[in-house]
Amino acid sequence: MGNSLDDLFKRVLTARIFVNRDILRPDYVPDDLPHRQSQILRLAEILAPVLQGSRPSNIFIYGVPGTGKTAVTKHILKKIGSEGRNVGVSLNIAFINCKHDDTNYRVLADLCEAVGERIPFTGLSTSEVLKRFINLADASNRSMFVVLDEVDSLVKKTGDKVLYDLTRINNQLSRAKVSIIGITNDLKFTEYLDPRVRSSLGEEELVFPPYNASELEDILKKRSEGAFHGGVLGGEVIKLCAALAAKEHGDARRALDLLRVAGEVAERGGDIKVTEEHVRKAQREVEKDRVVEVIRTMPLHSKLLILSLHLLERRKGGGGITGEVYEVYTSVTKRFGVEALTQRRVSDLINELDMLGIANARVVSKGRYGRTKIVRLSISDRNLRDAFQEDPRMVAYLGK
Ligand SMILES: Nc1ncnc2c1ncn2[C@@H]1O[C@H](COP(=O)(O)OP(=O)(O)O)[C@@H](O)[C@H]1O
Ligand SMILES: [Mg+2]
Repeated sequence: MGNSLDDLFKRVLTARIFVNRDILRPDYVPDDLPHRQSQILRLAEILAPVLQGSRPSNIFIYGVPGTGKTAVTKHILKKIGSEGRNVGVSLNIAFINCKHDDTNYRVLADLCEAVGERIPFTGLSTSEVLKRFINLADASNRSMFVVLDEVDSLVKKTGDKVLYDLTRINNQLSRAKVSIIGITNDLKFTEYLDPRVRSSLGEEELVFPPYNASELEDILKKRSEGAFHGGVLGGEVIKLCAALAAKEHGDARRALDLLRVAGEVAERGGDIKVTEEHVRKAQREVEKDRVVEVIRTMPLHSKLLILSLHLLERRKGGGGITGEVYEVYTSVTKRFGVEALTQRRVSDLINELDMLGIANARVVSKGRYGRTKIVRLSISDRNLRDAFQEDPRMVAYLGK
């Protein structure tokens, strides 16, 4: 063991694959964003009036994951911030990731922090924190951008109260001006919004379409420039990463992950070139990580449903129709001592699993009895075991 660890360290230390692998990581914001020129220009056009002291329209940005929404928004705000400094206009900018800060209190506390005051984790009411934010923002006498990234997470969890308050906030400000940029991966998200919030948030709307394979190829080429040593990437490596990610709804994050992990697989193996074989291995790793992470963080009933599908499949040697799935699910909930959700809810959860690529639901005709679905898991037992690892009761049901 000791020996093979030594070998591994040696291989990684002497490897000549990466110059700087951080360039390929998801949180790195590149200066150059190929194939987003029109979105960059449009966003700049909408926001630029801030430099003359006018309040830019609120904006709503949509697009599936990995289409550059976060990167483009950060890029533009950085540019506007520095242009502002050049011309003597100071701006307040709050960039909030609502997936991490998913309570009204956290969002408002972050806003206060962006205008210079730290708010304790608890102890104040949200209306008190809002009041403080309004006072602080106004006292700063600056224009402010409030970016609510992945805002759908916040609204799904706590409703649109904070959004409502924020879209009205300019009425209460006499000197400062606030513009809101809402970003969402969920295209149907506006259905959850009060119509007044929807219309004031959507003063302007911007859609980020998915990238196609050749666009992803350009993106990867550009990003790989400073990341890899020259001549390390095999001829078809970038093309393959781009093609695989294009199948995943054109997700640039996925494409970059594949390329980075392919490099790491090569490095660990002591290879001097990254090949298509490494990309294939990377794909299995990335997919496994994604599935395991998604399941691990799911709510209890989704996990119980996954367990039910697994048990059903083991019993029947294949998928089951929705009625059978529900039967197994109710008996599993009994054994876990929790109340079962309605069949309707479970059917929604099945659709969700299908969308996430964790299960596969196929509609079949039952002759004159109408149609039903055959549902089966589309992940391996091994991944399932990894996903349930932290929950011994679940693992116990998986059998040996
Ligand atoms: N046009 C592009 N050029 C270079 N990198 C990009 C481009 N679009 C997206 N990326 C990168 O892909 C990853 C995902 O992009 P991101 O902006 O987080 O997507 P979204 O917010 O739409 O889910 C990030 O690492 C980002 O830097
Ligand atoms: Mg994003």
